[in-house]
Amino acid sequence: MELRGKRVVVTGGAGFVGSHLVARLVGDNDVSVVDDYSSGTRAWVPSEVRVQEGDLTDPETVREAITEEVDLVVHLAASKAVNTDTPRTQFTENVEMTYNILERMDAVGVDRLAYTSSSTVYGEAPRPTPETHGPLEPISPYGVSKLTDEGLISTYAHSHGIRSWVFRFANIVGPRLEGAVVPDFIDKLREDSARLYILGDGRQQKSYMHIEDCLDAMETVIGSADDPFNVYNLGTRTTTSVTQIADIVSEEMGLDPTYEYEGGRRGWSGDVPKMRLDIDKLAGLGWEPSLESDDAIRQATRELLDE
Ligand SMILES: NC(=O)c1ccc[n+]([C@@H]2O[C@H](COP(=O)([O-])OP(=O)(O)OC[C@H]3O[C@@H](n4cnc5c(N)ncnc54)[C@H](O)[C@@H]3O)[C@@H](O)[C@H]2O)c1
Repeated sequence: MELRGKRVVVTGGAGFVGSHLVARLVGDNDVSVVDDYSSGTRAWVPSEVRVQEGDLTDPETVREAITEEVDLVVHLAASKAVNTDTPRTQFTENVEMTYNILERMDAVGVDRLAYTSSSTVYGEAPRPTPETHGPLEPISPYGVSKLTDEGLISTYAHSHGIRSWVFRFANIVGPRLEGAVVPDFIDKLREDSARLYILGDGRQQKSYMHIEDCLDAMETVIGSADDPFNVYNLGTRTTTSVTQIADIVSEEMGLDPTYEYEGGRRGWSGDVPKMRLDIDKLAGLGWEPSLESDDAIRQATRELLDE
């Protein structure tokens, strides 16, 4: 599906990934956003875009957002903390939103859905992890909510004629990122430039992808894959350890802090300490990331420091 001249609804369009996606789509498409601002920011949405403020767990919000003229729904809205105090609420809200959206799309005949899943559906799987890996054994309620959403989307794709693109993201980094390791280190070092407290043993090793590469990859997949249920890993071929991230952030801030490690192998319960996705399926579409993991971290650090 070519993303040009389409009527697109972006859920969670005021969030980190969503607001960058909307900025990209708005020139060539008729875009509207639905968001409850639980973690998003109104000012991040370009002023010419229609914004509906509402909670997508409410079917009435979804009814208003998705009408029969819509060509594509990009569903990004989610409660995404892995170490949440309210795991049951997070699970039910994420799944409720997706079910509401699928039911509404089916009711009004909207048949294209892009969905942002996560590497957390794999749990602690062998690396690099391909899309064909199984059984899928997530270790956090967030990961389970993503896997459940994928199952619902697969059902609607195979039994109700909805074409879907499901993106299993590595860690995405860039401007506006909040509640993640890079902005967390920046904030901590602004408070205390001599000492940096690091969750875990610093050897957690994950793949980081820059937001602009992530959006390029999404557009490539939507533009070329046309099975009913298209699932793709989106990441880089390389990883960066938490200590390396601390080194990059410190260097970019011109600091030389002492590191204090707190906790063990995992940063927190539900954290997957080592993650690297196999991106050969994506590469098979002729696409490669322009920035490897360390470079994505460095670029995002610079962008976040400039905000
Ligand atoms: N950022 C990453 O590294 C990453 C990694 C894996 C998967 N993902 C997935 O990508 C998507 C976007 O992530 P993000 O980093 O931009 O998150 P984000 O928190 O910045 O954006 C999510 C948006 O959804 C909105 N939202 C949440 N609950 C809602 C509700 N009930 N009704 C309406 N709006 C609601 C929030 O206000 C926010 O604007 C999410 O589905 C997330 O799970 C992100």
